[in-house]
Amino acid sequence: MAISRMFQILVVTFLHYFSASILAANPTYNVLSYGAKADGKFDCAKAFQAAWGAACASASASPATIYVPRGRYILGNVHFDGSTCKNNAIIIQIDGILSAPSNYNVIGNSVHWLMFKRINGVSIRGGTLDGLGANLCACKAAGKKCPKGATSLAFLNSNNTSISGLTSINSQMFHIVIHDCRDTKLQNIKISTPDESPNTDGIHIGLSSGVSVTNSRIATGDDCISMSPGTSNVFVQNVACGPGHGISIGSLGWVLNEAGVENVTVKSCVLSGTQNGVRIKTWARPSNGFVRIVHYEDLTMVNVKNPIVIDQNYCPNNKNCPNQSSGVKISSVTYKDIHGTSATETGVSLKCSKAEPCTGIKLDKVMLNYKNQKVATVCGNTVQIMDGVIKPLNCLS
Ligand SMILES: *[C@@H]1O[C@H](CO)[C@@H](O)[C@H](O)[C@H]1NC(C)=O
Ligand SMILES: *[C@@H]1O[C@H](CO)[C@@H](O)[C@H](O)[C@H]1NC(C)=O
Ligand SMILES: *[C@@H]1O[C@H](CO)[C@@H](O)[C@H](O)[C@H]1NC(C)=O
Ligand SMILES: *[C@@H]1O[C@H](CO)[C@@H](O)[C@H](O)[C@H]1NC(C)=O
Repeated sequence: MAISRMFQILVVTFLHYFSASILAANPTYNVLSYGAKADGKFDCAKAFQAAWGAACASASASPATIYVPRGRYILGNVHFDGSTCKNNAIIIQIDGILSAPSNYNVIGNSVHWLMFKRINGVSIRGGTLDGLGANLCACKAAGKKCPKGATSLAFLNSNNTSISGLTSINSQMFHIVIHDCRDTKLQNIKISTPDESPNTDGIHIGLSSGVSVTNSRIATGDDCISMSPGTSNVFVQNVACGPGHGISIGSLGWVLNEAGVENVTVKSCVLSGTQNGVRIKTWARPSNGFVRIVHYEDLTMVNVKNPIVIDQNYCPNNKNCPNQSSGVKISSVTYKDIHGTSATETGVSLKCSKAEPCTGIKLDKVMLNYKNQKVATVCGNTVQIMDGVIKPLNCLS
């Protein structure tokens, strides 16, 4: 009797462990079980790394969840490498705040603070990232010798990434970088750094295809969203930008052989008090890069300094631009239903390349005011303007 009872208990215990650890539909890896402490002091980088290792090694049949409960977790650099992961569906559910250490030097000399690479199918849900960048910003402003700063969150060489409900504040450099990725979905993202923080782009996309950014709010010291060479199939909708430098394609064309940017849609966004609204910017240097099939639609500008900009003459201090002309070919760019207010007289500035004039630029229902007057349009080297409501000034001269 006693023996069979013991056997029963053993079987039950065995089944319990077996089902929890092996058969569980959705195994959960709580960072607290891997040594993390939500006390705002302890460096949890190793614990997060260990939870990642466990989730990554788990059977691929069902999604694995890394769970970060409420509280404040201090993390030095954490680089999550997915190259040996068995699981292609790792969910990181964050209820807490991940904070950089108070000494900015700990992460400030590396390019990325939290970085994921070579991984398929990661979803980050919720959470706040606090880059604690104010002190580094002050160091830079004082002209002292300080580290360059780290991007808060980067995905490199990764596919099928989803980031939703994440807040990123006070990054040292860029907030979120998507580089060399396929199929990345960002939604309900909140980003904020003070206006005066240098190089704090909200979301930077490079060499990536299939990126969507929707229902998000980005207040920062640099570009709201920036796109660099090799970016295609981007969809941005319902994003509020400001303060900051606006939604930008570029700078492109620094190098001769450069991948182009194509098929970008920016729709139903509001830009408030930004330096630019939507901008395409290229270096005045030889390049075989291009920008084509860009569609801007239903954009509201609120007191934006330069609502619509194409600038192919970018060459600070006239240095390193041998021919003072950009080789980047810009074609098929549509501005449809762009309304609101400009903070300067020139609301539309299309300065294309002498060497490669823009083609297929369409303005359709561009209705921008500056002090209750229609804004002026300044153009150069645009071959075709199909004009909607406003009459472009000086455009075809
Ligand atoms: C991502 O997709 C690209 C293109 O299909 C593929 O070459 C690459 O190996 C994938 N990377 C990962 C980490 O799945
Ligand atoms: C995204 O995930 C799906 C399902 O796992 C997979 O078939 C597809 O190849 C992935 N996409 C890329 C670009 O790797
Ligand atoms: C262009 O990008 C959109 C996403 O905005 C995508 O749905 C569409 O398939 C892309 N078009 C081509 C031709 O790749
Ligand atoms: C500069 O322009 C000249 C013609 O104006 C051209 O022959 C030359 O190849 C150009 N140089 C570069 C580096 O593009």
